Amino acid sequence: MKKVVIITGASRGFGELIAKKFQKENFQVIATMRNIDSSPSLKKLDNIDIKKLDVTVKSDIKNVIDFTIMKYNRIDVLINNAGYGAMGFLEEASEEEIKYQYDVNFFGLINCIKGVLPQMRKQKDGVIINISSIAGRVGLPFTSLYNSSKFAVEGLTECLHYELSLFGIDIKTVAPGSFRTGFHDSIIYTEKEKIDDLNEIRTKLKTGIKAGIKEGPPFPFNYGNNNNVSEFVYQCAIKKKKITNFVGRDTKIINFFIKIFGKGLFFKIIKRIWFSKILSGKKNND
Ligand SMILES: NC(=O)c1ccc[n+]([C@@H]2O[C@H](COP(=O)([O-])OP(=O)(O)OC[C@H]3O[C@@H](n4cnc5c(N)ncnc54)[C@H](OP(=O)(O)O)[C@@H]3O)[C@@H](O)[C@H]2O)c1
Repeated sequence: MKKVVIITGASRGFGELIAKKFQKENFQVIATMRNIDSSPSLKKLDNIDIKKLDVTVKSDIKNVIDFTIMKYNRIDVLINNAGYGAMGFLEEASEEEIKYQYDVNFFGLINCIKGVLPQMRKQKDGVIINISSIAGRVGLPFTSLYNSSKFAVEGLTECLHYELSLFGIDIKTVAPGSFRTGFHDSIIYTEKEKIDDLNEIRTKLKTGIKAGIKEGPPFPFNYGNNNNVSEFVYQCAIKKKKITNFVGRDTKIINFFIKIFGKGLFFKIIKRIWFSKILSGKKNND
């Protein structure tokens, strides 16, 4: 019997690649997405059920889990991949913008976990992989909401692993560095409560971020290969791994740097780059 994996946010980016990887490895894939017509390439493949799931809608989660149990009577792996990045000054973010970041990146993930647990406990087996980020390890500028939602995912996973181990269920995170998916084009600038004093710096910030995305991170932090993430997620699902698993050369460099020099020096360097370069409009090689 094929093993069954449920993946959230499979319309594009990592989620779509992860779905293809598991399909290739002979899993039955439940590829979920907000709009079921978003991925024509997944539609063409065998052993993939494409189901509608917005992680902020509890009835969508229930429908997908009911469908999976009814049709396959098992859930072996859950990949909580859906997510997006909010950026900007916290002061300018409305309550709605703040809550939505957490609804998608954190509460949606919790509800998916709660949804699969009864079946996994019954099986006394299962793996849950939460896609976190290097931003769940170290703070970065102007992304307090995104960063903190990923810190929350890391904290939740670390704590949950105790109780889930009682039932033979494994939970871990995969924490990527920077990769060129749809992520950067989907950034939401949280500015519904604009503050006039911040107009000038906000304009510079957004111009700097957009230019930085276009240019890509400077050497040696260049965007990684997206297929390495889907491959790594698969390895994390089938093998014993740590609770937090970083992927991407930039994550290795950052973690090494922090281990040797501490976060203080890291923050100083990041401030220097952002305040003297990005906010002043200079390019990487200036
Ligand atoms: N790319 C990176 O550099 C990077 C680095 C670290 C961590 N990550 C994490 O990796 C995960 C996947 O991101 P990606 O890089 O593949 O970005 P992406 O190409 O933008 O894909 C994001 C996926 O999440 C889905 N999504 C957004 N809101 C959703 C919701 N409410 N319900 C269900 N699905 C929703 C999107 O669906 P739609 O098509 O409907 O919008 C899309 O399928 C995210 O958790 C992200 O935080 C990415």
